[in-house]
Amino acid sequence: MVRQTLDTPTELFHFQLRTALTMENDSLAALEELAKAAKSAEVKKLFRHHLGETKEQVANLRKAFDAVDLKVSTAPSPSTKGISKQAASTLERSAPKLRDQVALSCALGNEHYEIAAYQSLIVPAQTLGLSDVTALLQANLDQEVHTSEELRTTLQKILA
Ligand SMILES: [Fe+2]
Repeated sequence: MVRQTLDTPTELFHFQLRTALTMENDSLAALEELAKAAKSAEVKKLFRHHLGETKEQVANLRKAFDAVDLKVSTAPSPSTKGISKQAASTLERSAPKLRDQVALSCALGNEHYEIAAYQSLIVPAQTLGLSDVTALLQANLDQEVHTSEELRTTLQKILA
């Protein structure tokens, strides 16, 4: 049994920020794997590009820790581990010609999870009056939304 230690909205916010850092670290690992698994140069390039953006997102999260005087640390993120596991399991079952489609679909699922995570952080950040943190989180959210759109249009393109 996990001991109940989150008692205030601020404590919950800090915990969710630490979970978000694990989420982005998991994304770095997942994008490496998806870039390797993808067949076409275009899809590989898309994952590599997003890998660079994810490093910027990690940097923004670290700045958010600083802005609230919280030591940089991580908290468990079983959801993102599960998304990566599902990607690996579907890739294993798929013929090589399906790999771009599988990789794009899995990345799209991950993006939508990240979008929800940032939305869930931005609302309390605003309520707590943390305008600097809100701006950093919004920058990450904007990138995730843009990436999800890129993944969706690339998926459309490869299946056309
Ligand atoms: Fe991300």
